[in-house]
Amino acid sequence: MARASSTEEEAVSAEEMLAAQAQVYNVVMGHIGTMCLKSAIELNILEIVHNAHVLSHSDLLSKLPNVPPWKSPFVHRIMRLLAQMGYFKIGNKDEEVLYSLTPLSKMFLLKNKPLSLSPYLGLLTPPWTNVWYSLSDWLQSDGKGCMFEFEHGKSTWDIASHNPELNSGFNEAMAADSRVIMKAVVDQCSEAFKGLHTLVDVGGGTGTSALAIAQAHPGLKCTVYDLPHVIASVPPNSLIDAISGNMFESIPQADAIFLKWILHDWTDEDCVKILKKCKDAIPNGGGKVIIVDFVLNDNKNSSETFTQLLFDASMMAYTDGKERTEYEWKRIFLDAGFTDYKITPIGLRSLIEVFP
Ligand SMILES: C[S@@+](CC[C@H](N)C(=O)[O-])C[C@H]1O[C@@H](n2cnc3c(N)ncnc32)[C@H](O)[C@@H]1O
Repeated sequence: MARASSTEEEAVSAEEMLAAQAQVYNVVMGHIGTMCLKSAIELNILEIVHNAHVLSHSDLLSKLPNVPPWKSPFVHRIMRLLAQMGYFKIGNKDEEVLYSLTPLSKMFLLKNKPLSLSPYLGLLTPPWTNVWYSLSDWLQSDGKGCMFEFEHGKSTWDIASHNPELNSGFNEAMAADSRVIMKAVVDQCSEAFKGLHTLVDVGGGTGTSALAIAQAHPGLKCTVYDLPHVIASVPPNSLIDAISGNMFESIPQADAIFLKWILHDWTDEDCVKILKKCKDAIPNGGGKVIIVDFVLNDNKNSSETFTQLLFDASMMAYTDGKERTEYEWKRIFLDAGFTDYKITPIGLRSLIEVFP
């Protein structure tokens, strides 16, 4: 086998060296694929292709009137990359290039589909993305606060409360996530909600999770509780109530408090404060807190761990929180005065029932 170098330290084969180089390039340029997908979503290319079922390249261009004809090859090159990433299928007929969607993009990226995650790609804009250019400066600075605060001078929630566009983009992304995970929660974890008469979804955004629980458990009265600028956007709905407030000050009484993607936004000390407020809000006998969040996987080689660690890094960027191992969860539960907990894995995340 050909050797790339004769020194022992660099004794890798040429094949190994080139494969490693490709791996580094894939990481360095990963954001390019992401931005191409974002653009395809912005230009409604997925809807255009889906409506036709199978669409030729020339027909696609005719439905993109703002793209000048001379940019036709660029559109094809973007489609080719997205096909390589698994979002389109590309075929040929009579020298025409034909596009169609894959099951993945049909289910998760078409805007009007119930499980669409397309709002999540909307977060790939400033002020979310530019914080990453400050990572090294932030690490070397002595100031408190996350990267978002370092870059923008205010917390994520403060900025959202003053910027309606950012607020609605963020709320839509959260709702998109909730539509997917809550389908699994209500299907796989219905036992966790049995016997409850009232539930408050604290930090529940615009009510998607509360609504999913209320629909799955008709006898359970669900309320969404969040900051005023978020509650102002809750769509009117007869199945759930909406109350605005600050969870660090008070939490409405209920049999169960639901916390989805809340505690990973906060430090251990803040989590203990929130959990103590939750404990005050539920009955000592029969009450519980139901958390949907990541429990960091012990299997460091799994692809799930990679996704969990990406979320952990994003918590570092946008909040003062982090993703936690079971041991770290247990510590904050005990510090807040709870005595027991039960973890049920659901995909990348877990449903954690915490008992007083
Ligand atoms: C990461 S989002 C999760 C939203 C929702 N639970 C979900 O998973 O789709 C965090 C939520 O906590 C809310 N929040 C932040 N600080 C809060 C506070 N002090 N009191 C109540 N809600 C708060 C935010 O407005 C936001 O809706």
